[in-house]
Amino acid sequence: MNKIAWSKDLTVGVAEIDEQHRQWIQRLNDVASAIAAHQGPVQLGQTLAFLVDYTQQHFATEEKLMAAAKYPGLKTQLAQHQELTETLKDLVRDFDEEGATTKLAETVNTYLGNWLLTHIREQDLQFGKFLKSKPA
Ligand SMILES: [Fe+2]
Ligand SMILES: [Fe+2]
Repeated sequence: MNKIAWSKDLTVGVAEIDEQHRQWIQRLNDVASAIAAHQGPVQLGQTLAFLVDYTQQHFATEEKLMAAAKYPGLKTQLAQHQELTETLKDLVRDFDEEGATTKLAETVNTYLGNWLLTHIREQDLQFGKFLKSKPA
């Protein structure tokens, strides 16, 4: 199982966002651990639900901050956030129907981790740069 680690290069420079990204990585790792430990469906379902809730909370925070700053990249952010929201919905539905399958484990371990790191590096960091370049 590949645990994702927080690293300095993921720092956006907005305390609220950075703290949420740490928590978000933690929650994703929790789901990966729960799958690896073959936790029962109730516990795994709960851990998965925590991740989904937290993701929604995080996206809402970012979108609010971006809209307030009139960030020109907001549209791209919204589209990518929407895409992941759909993926998570599918994941939860598959889990409810089929339990912890290999496909679920793969999606969590590979797809979600890559998505999250790529999105932070390629999208969220841009927002940090934009804020820094904005005249106060
Ligand atoms: Fe983010
Ligand atoms: Fe984002």
